[in-house]
Amino acid sequence: MRRYFLVFPFLFRFSFILLIILTLHFATGKFAFASGNNSQPGLVNGHSNEDIKRGQRFFMGLLPFDRKGESCVSCHNLKPADTLNWNPSAIAIAEKYIEKDFAEFQAAVMQPSGKKMEASHQNFEIPEEDLKLVKVYLDNLAMTGLPAEKPSINNILLFIFLGLLITWALAELIFFRKIKHKIIPTIIFVAAFGFQVKMIVTEATKLGRSQGYAPDQPIKFSHKVHAGDNKIDCLYCHHTAEQSKSAGIPAMNLCMNCHVLIREGTNSGKFEIAKIVNAVEHKTPIEWMRLHNLPDHVFFSHAVHVGSAKLDCQKCHGPVEEMDIMKQQNDLSMGWCINCHRETQVDFANNPYFESYAQMHEDFKSGKRAKPTAEEMGANDCMKCHY
Ligand code: HEC
Ligand code: HEC
Ligand code: HEC
Ligand code: HEC
Ligand code: HEC
Ligand code: HEC
Repeated sequence: MRRYFLVFPFLFRFSFILLIILTLHFATGKFAFASGNNSQPGLVNGHSNEDIKRGQRFFMGLLPFDRKGESCVSCHNLKPADTLNWNPSAIAIAEKYIEKDFAEFQAAVMQPSGKKMEASHQNFEIPEEDLKLVKVYLDNLAMTGLPAEKPSINNILLFIFLGLLITWALAELIFFRKIKHKIIPTIIFVAAFGFQVKMIVTEATKLGRSQGYAPDQPIKFSHKVHAGDNKIDCLYCHHTAEQSKSAGIPAMNLCMNCHVLIREGTNSGKFEIAKIVNAVEHKTPIEWMRLHNLPDHVFFSHAVHVGSAKLDCQKCHGPVEEMDIMKQQNDLSMGWCINCHRETQVDFANNPYFESYAQMHEDFKSGKRAKPTAEEMGANDCMKCHY
């Protein structure tokens, strides 16, 4: 009898936890809904939410029902993609045309110019009133920004399910004790709990260390096209790498050395390169998202590694010439730096940087020191990397 009473506070707690989970679930869902459907009224002059919604449905290919051909969104994606989608994204189009009137937008969509555009915007038959609403939707998109990313519904459901398993296993172990072999609920408890921890950890590390981090850049600049296909030297654009601490990101003027002539890309058409010209003409800097970023307490210099040690960029940055989207290849952890200093031999004899190390030179010759690694040269002293 006593045991049954014990169950009540437990059940109470259980439903309480469930309530919290569900509230959280709906709260996040609602939040994403509110920012996702851009339903703040009156944002676009003289247009109702109904207009915005209708424009959105058209853009998504849900209207009209009997439409032929692809929807706008199938080329102009709303969400960032893992592989480079060369077509302009929906937000990029929206931002370009928010300043412009409908006639200009209509001409851009309906009278395509350039190879790429002629191929993709072929035989568009769009009634003017529909296209007007598409522009209303895009204008609204430019003002409100993209919908916030929310954790996928499958992950949330899985998380809740694991939570239920854990609760059941605990309840079985402590209160019900119906199953003979205690090992079964124990295993279920450990496995489900472990998996939940793993889910939390993966979500959390997405926020921290940034190996593999590859954000959407303001221009679809491809290292594959430039350093790979067209064999442009890394130092042509990152020309400070040999002499200074930073490799630097090229200014738009440098792009213009070539793009004053090249106005249409094979993959992207005119849209992306037009951004360069626009930035130079209006003197608006392009704000590239920075990928590699050591903490402030670490000192790193490209001059030492590229200039003096003559290391290939690829040693640290991976096969950049194959990347359409730039990615951070290594984790830039302290262990990563230290290990390479242990392994990498310095070109000791032919390096004017080390002329003053005459005694050491003799030691290597006579075999007193084993290998002239970067570590031997003092590269692993704390003070070399930390101020
Ligand atoms: C035509 C000019 C150009 C050439 C050639 C070029 N880059 Fe870049 N690089 C850029 C631009 C622009 C960015 C910023 C946009 C980006 O991250 O994709 C960049 C970014 C980078 C970054 C990331 C910087 C960050 O945000 O942390 C690395 C690393 C890099 N380049 C390495 C290389 C290497 C290695 C090569 C040669 C194989 C090379 N680049 C050739 C223009 C160039
Ligand atoms: C040394 C010459 C040179 C420089 C400098 C240069 N590019 Fe290019 N770029 C090219 C060539 C060549 C192409 C390929 C054109 C084609 O597809 O036929 C190209 C293509 C492109 C494309 C279209 C890619 C595609 O395949 O559709 C973009 C976008 C672009 N460049 C951006 C930039 C930016 C941004 C910079 C400055 C950071 C820059 N370029 C600097 C030579 C250059
Ligand atoms: C088959 C793919 C495809 C579909 C479908 C498509 N587009 Fe495009 N669109 C493109 C490409 C590719 C470009 C860029 C071509 C270039 O810059 O040369 C582009 C460019 C644009 C531009 C910018 C033109 C400029 O240079 O400023 C607008 C606006 C646009 N599309 C609107 C739409 C709308 C609205 C729809 C739906 C009715 C749509 N697109 C459907 C591929 C597509
Ligand atoms: C020994 C490893 C190593 C080598 C070799 C190396 N880099 Fe880097 N690179 C780094 C690290 C680490 C960072 C991050 C620096 C920071 O955050 O202060 C970085 C950052 C960058 C950046 C971002 C802007 C900046 O300067 O901070 C660019 C661009 C870049 N590297 C290009 C190059 C190019 C081009 C080469 C070859 C000429 C090269 N790197 C060689 C390790 C290396
Ligand atoms: C791919 C191998 C490699 C990696 C990775 C590497 N280094 Fe080095 N590092 C070297 C070599 C080789 C030298 C010797 C340089 C020379 O010849 O002057 C060196 C030298 C140094 C020095 C000594 C400069 C001096 O004044 O003596 C510092 C500081 C340094 N590295 C910092 C770093 C930091 C910080 C990182 C990690 C973010 C790092 N390195 C990652 C290869 C590497
Ligand atoms: C070759 C360069 C290098 C040398 C030598 C080096 N460090 Fe570091 N250290 C780093 C880098 C890079 C980081 C940043 C790592 C990260 O963000 O994960 C770091 C981070 C740290 C941190 C902070 C850890 C954190 O989580 O933020 C401490 C503490 C530290 N180092 C202590 C030392 C001590 C003590 C020594 C000497 C025994 C030393 N380091 C030598 C490159 C170096």
